[in-house]
Amino acid sequence: MDLQIRGGRVFMGKRVQVMDIWIKDGRIAALGGPHVADDHLDVAGLLVLPGAVDIHVHFRDPGQTHKEDWETGSLAAAAGGVTTVVDQPNTLPAVNDASAYRDKLITARRHSIVDFCLNGGPGNVQELLGEGAAAIGEIFTYEMGEERLRDLLFQVEDADGLPTIHAEDGWTIRRCEEGMRGQQDPDVHSRSRPPQAEEAAIAQALSLTQKRVHICHLSTSGGLELIRRAKKAGRAVTAEVAPHHLLLNRRDYRKQGTFLKVNPPLRSSSDNQALWDGLRRGDIEAMASDHAPHLPEEKRQEIWEAPSGLPGVETMLPLMLDAVRANRIPLDRAVDALSTAPARILGLKGKGEIAVGKDADLVLVDTRARSEVLAYRLHSRADWTPYQGRTAIFPRLTMVRGEVVFDGDMAVRPGYGQNLPGPGRSASRVREED
Ligand code: DOR
Ligand code: ZN
Repeated sequence: MDLQIRGGRVFMGKRVQVMDIWIKDGRIAALGGPHVADDHLDVAGLLVLPGAVDIHVHFRDPGQTHKEDWETGSLAAAAGGVTTVVDQPNTLPAVNDASAYRDKLITARRHSIVDFCLNGGPGNVQELLGEGAAAIGEIFTYEMGEERLRDLLFQVEDADGLPTIHAEDGWTIRRCEEGMRGQQDPDVHSRSRPPQAEEAAIAQALSLTQKRVHICHLSTSGGLELIRRAKKAGRAVTAEVAPHHLLLNRRDYRKQGTFLKVNPPLRSSSDNQALWDGLRRGDIEAMASDHAPHLPEEKRQEIWEAPSGLPGVETMLPLMLDAVRANRIPLDRAVDALSTAPARILGLKGKGEIAVGKDADLVLVDTRARSEVLAYRLHSRADWTPYQGRTAIFPRLTMVRGEVVFDGDMAVRPGYGQNLPGPGRSASRVREED
């Protein structure tokens, strides 16, 4: 064996057991001994979790690297216990064809600290899936009419891909915005993109394809209800919730104003509650950060001008571990939502669990080490956080494929992270590259 992780409280098979983890060639080779290893790491007293799989990040690279790049984004991920990220295609240029996909892949391979997938945008679907895109999306439904969306979903279905849907109906939003243009109260952002816009777009997406659909950052109780009913009716639909739709609501505009502009927008505290319930029950199977960094000077503009999006990749797992401590959610549901379910949704077979044969992507946590979220300690180029001052439990150390990638500092060279191509990439191409 290469490495023994000795004496930790290991989360496996839905519960915590004191156990040694034995690692060989980056994979978990055995759980429990006796074996012999070249090296060991004593982690007595620490909780050992599978690394989080964040299937929704916007790392802004290429095109807007002043907001984030692959190195800063993936370092933030590692520091927050995220060992795999799935980057969204709305970079500049957008990842809508093979050439843009390959260009981003080169950059990410050079600079990422954690493992990663790239999603493809609403362009040449077949080509993107052939290159290895993990999914097609997030598909911004508010940017397209029904015909365009139908056609796109048909193409994704035809190529056996997974569409991931940003569900907000454009027509509803434009109609609401018309009457509100003069208003400057940041809450106008939530009112101009009402819950009905999300509900309409979820219903539409479910009606336009009969195949698998994934709903991104679910934000309303009404949307959740639609998904529950669809599941009951046998539809293959999965959903993710973002930390901000659990932990923040419209009242928070009073303190943080335009900084909290995000799409879908913040909702009411009863939506927070419904989403927590949905997450606990497993009707919402996954958490994803929707990490969407913008700089403070950009966020500070008036509400109609400020860009939408909140940073979150580094704080998602730490805030959830504090929610576990506060009994808001059981540990097994939190780990499932952060790691196991997202890996399953994207078919990432080596990820999301502590089990023999899986990649040794591990997060070591001292559960007594509660601390405040403070922007200056975070690693994103965003340089601010909507959770300033909240209590969180940050990991002590993060490991990807058996290598420590973060232990308070970056512990590996940028470019250590590997690409996990989606199932659509042809075997011949993989051979060619190898
Ligand atoms: O608020 C958002 N910002 N929502 C999205 O869906 C995209 C994101 C971004 O890229 O800034
Ligand atoms: Zn997004």
